[in-house]
Amino acid sequence: MWDVVVLGAGAAGLMAAATAGRNGARVLVLDHGPEPGRKILVSGGGRCNFTHLETGPNCFLSDNRHFARSALARYTPQNFLSLVERHRIAWHEKAKGQLFCDGSARQIVDMLVSECLTGGCELRIETRITDMRREGDGFVIRTGRGDVQSRKVILATGGLSIPKLGASDLSLRLARQFGLRIVPTAPALVPLVLPDADPELAGVSLTVVTRIGKKGPRFEDGMVFTHRGLSGPAILQISSYLQAGESFQVDLLPGSNVLDALRRTKQDRPRALPPRLLEMLPARLAKVLVADLGDTMLANQPDRKLRALAERLSCWKVTPDGTEGYAKAEVMRGGVDTRGLSSQTMEALDVPGLYVIGEAVDVTGWLGGHNFQWAWSSGVAAGLAA
Ligand code: FDA
Repeated sequence: MWDVVVLGAGAAGLMAAATAGRNGARVLVLDHGPEPGRKILVSGGGRCNFTHLETGPNCFLSDNRHFARSALARYTPQNFLSLVERHRIAWHEKAKGQLFCDGSARQIVDMLVSECLTGGCELRIETRITDMRREGDGFVIRTGRGDVQSRKVILATGGLSIPKLGASDLSLRLARQFGLRIVPTAPALVPLVLPDADPELAGVSLTVVTRIGKKGPRFEDGMVFTHRGLSGPAILQISSYLQAGESFQVDLLPGSNVLDALRRTKQDRPRALPPRLLEMLPARLAKVLVADLGDTMLANQPDRKLRALAERLSCWKVTPDGTEGYAKAEVMRGGVDTRGLSSQTMEALDVPGLYVIGEAVDVTGWLGGHNFQWAWSSGVAAGLAA
C-alpha cells in the first residue's frame, strides 16, 4: 500500500510527488509515456519558460477567478526560482517577467526527477492506467502491470492538448467517475483559422493589439499570418477567451493616430501611390490593405477612403472559422470544476484522499510561464497535503 500515487509524471505530478516524498510519504508516480516531463522538454522552444515573476490570479481563466490565489501565494515564482538556482541551472529573463533556462528544458526535468528521487519516490513510466476504484479508505488503480493500492491519489495527467505528446482525458474521466463536475473544455493558446486566409501573407509578422470589445481582454504582442489564419503571442492569448463564432479586433498600428498619419502622407506626397501610405507596415501586408485604393495617386484619394482604411487598420474585425485544435494548442481551457476542490489543498471536497492538480483543473494561464507556475503551485499544495 502506497501513501500517495501520482497519476502523470508531468510538471504538476513531478512537483507534487517530490513535495510529498520529501515530506515523508511513500510515493509512486505512474505515467504511460516513454519518459517524464515530455511537455516540459518541448516548452519555450526547448528552453522552458518555467515561470512568470508577475503571475497572479488575474493571469488565469477559470470559472472561479480567485481559486488559484491561495496556491500561487503559498508557492511563488520566487520559490521555484530558488529551486532552479539550488540546482545551478542558469536562467535569463526574456520578456518582462518571463524566465527561461539559458541551456535546455531538460535541466528542469532532470531537476524535478532528482527532487523526486531525493524524496524517495518511485517512478514507473510506460505504464498504462485503465481504471481506478475506491476500496476502504483508499484507492485501487488498475494498470497494465497489475493493480496498485494507495491511501491517496493525485490526478495530474494534464489536459487534452498535443495528443502526440501523451495527452489524454484520464484525469477528466476519473474526476467525473468520482462525481466531480467538468467545466467544458476547449483548445486554448491556439492558432486561429480564418475563412479568408491569404496564403500570400504567410510569414508576415508585426506587433498588434488584440482585444474583445471595449472592456474585454486586451493583449499587445506579436502576430504572424499563417497559411490558414493567424498565430503569434497576441493571437494565442486572445484565443483562450474566444467562444465559437465570436469576433475580436486587431489594431495593426497600436499607439498611433492612423487617420492623421494617412492624411499627412497624402499631403506630403501627393504624387505617391497608395502603398506609400503604409510604409510603416510590412510591404506584403501593406499591398493587400491598400488594394481597394487602386493605382490612383494619393492626391486624388477621397478622405472617405482614407477614413475607411484607418478604421480597418486600427479595428480590423476578425471572425475565425475555428482553431487549429488540440494538435496545436499549448493548453486546454476548462477542466475539473474548482467548486468541487479545496483551493488550499486541491483535494476533492466530497472524495477525501483524491486530489486534482495542474492543467486538468479549470485554471488556464496566459502565455509566458503562468501555466508552469500553476503546475508547480498546485503540485506543492497537493503534495504537502497528501
Ligand atoms: P503535463 O501535460 O505536463 O503532464 C501530464 C502527464 O500525464 C504527462 O507526462 C502524460 O504522459 C501523462 N498522462 C496523460 N495521460 C495519461 C494516461 N492516460 N495514463 C498515464 N499517464 C498519462 N507553459 C509554460 O508555462 N511555459 C512554457 O514555455 C510552455 N510551453 C509550452 C509549449 C508547448 C508546445 C505546450 C504543448 C505547452 C506549453 N506550456 C508552457 C504549457 C505547459 O506545458 C502545461 O501547462 C503543463 O505541462 C501542464 O502540466 P501538467 O503536469 O498538468 O500536465
